[in-house]
Amino acid sequence: MTRSLCFAPASPDAIALHLVAPDALEARLENLPTAQAAWARHHGFAATLGQVCALPGDAGRPAAILIGTGTPHDRARQRFAIGAAIAGLPEADYALIDPLVGTEGEEIALGYLLSLYRFDRYRTQSRPKARLVAPQGVDSAHLERIAAAEALTRDLINTPAEDMGPDALEAAARTLAEEFGAEISVTAGDELLARNFPLINTVGRAAARAPRLIDLRWGRGARSVTLVGKGVCFDTGGLNLKPGASMGLMKKDMGGAATVLGLARMIMAEGLDLSLRVLIPAVENAVAGNSFRPGDIFTARNGKTVEINNTDAEGRLVLADALALANETPADLTISMATLTGAARVAVGADLAPFFTDDEGFATALTQAAAQVADPVWRLPFHAPYETMIEPGIADLDNAPSGGMAGAITAALFLRRFVPDVPKYAHFDIYGWSPSNAPARPKGGVGMGARAIFRALIDGTAP
Ligand code: BES
Ligand code: MN
Ligand code: ZN
Repeated sequence: MTRSLCFAPASPDAIALHLVAPDALEARLENLPTAQAAWARHHGFAATLGQVCALPGDAGRPAAILIGTGTPHDRARQRFAIGAAIAGLPEADYALIDPLVGTEGEEIALGYLLSLYRFDRYRTQSRPKARLVAPQGVDSAHLERIAAAEALTRDLINTPAEDMGPDALEAAARTLAEEFGAEISVTAGDELLARNFPLINTVGRAAARAPRLIDLRWGRGARSVTLVGKGVCFDTGGLNLKPGASMGLMKKDMGGAATVLGLARMIMAEGLDLSLRVLIPAVENAVAGNSFRPGDIFTARNGKTVEINNTDAEGRLVLADALALANETPADLTISMATLTGAARVAVGADLAPFFTDDEGFATALTQAAAQVADPVWRLPFHAPYETMIEPGIADLDNAPSGGMAGAITAALFLRRFVPDVPKYAHFDIYGWSPSNAPARPKGGVGMGARAIFRALIDGTAP
């Protein structure tokens, strides 16, 4: 399902692109042929961020294209705007001519690639696109690998639940494993009970498509990383049903799984020297006669009992069994990613990936890596005094504390109970969805945090 988001080969016919900052505009125009400068002035070109002005050339072909960079303030407000402006040009080959400074080239080039993405599985017509020659000084193959992985994440999230059930998510993981020679094993349905994954079975048992745990392994590196992704292919809320307005987007409740699969793709395609494991509990939280109920108490894989106070807090249940498995063979770094709580979205909105970790070094590394690759993250606390909120009294744990306080934190604390033995744990409570069109982030599924983690892994700052 991944398509190629790629650069064009170098071409002598490529139309020149010039980046122009507002304070350099006058000087630039003075150096242009008078007719072109007059043209740019006539069209009100002010070099605002992403503003485009095609300068007239011979026979109706643009002589060059000016693209405004706006001020540094504008660019901080809207990342990827320049790359998106390039991707929006009419179909032709383009090349950035002037030297680029710092990481500017990477952001523009990646912004361009990610802007080429379009979810077209259900479209009958495709659109011709602007082709950008890879700018000098950027590792174009590296960026193309990132873009391919992000496209995979977006495709998986965007695909409606009817076509992206636990079975289809498994198929996607198998396709990925095959492409990179990874090993994969899947435990499904009643086998989950026989192999002691009771909570995955419990949450998924009411659905027509069987719940399963996907376990993918790749690489023989000395450093080990385990990624765990929430794969709730549709979340009705179970018997404590979600209201219609909240259910509408719940095809994206496998966003954590989609994002760890995208990250796994980056790691494998780049050939990082790691031992990678990916665990995905894939289920549908459905309503039927055999649905689990509020008030039920279940024993998780690690022997802890969990009282169900809301069947809509299902993500932490399926993750609990997967994390308990990860805890049995502790990797150097364990990361879970999940569309886990509405509270996380309320706290930081759709653009930031909130993460929890007790490891100061990893938190710093991640924050720096995130800034480098324009994939913003924000740390939230594993605040220990809130532990009592997840302890109900008649079982070890409560899956849905009442009171609605610190919902993202109590969910994270719940997960942490299942990985007592891993040396380094981080949990991401992502939104996985771009609510409106933004540069390089069209409305729809979107990966969050994966590029930041990938950067930290490459730099060796994690684990
Ligand atoms: N998948 C939802 C969380 C969610 C909702 C993420 C909307 C992003 C957008 C999750 O399974 C859920 O329903 N969580 C509940 C937990 C509550 C019942 C303790 C929530 O956040 O309301
Ligand atoms: Mn839910
Ligand atoms: Zn959910």
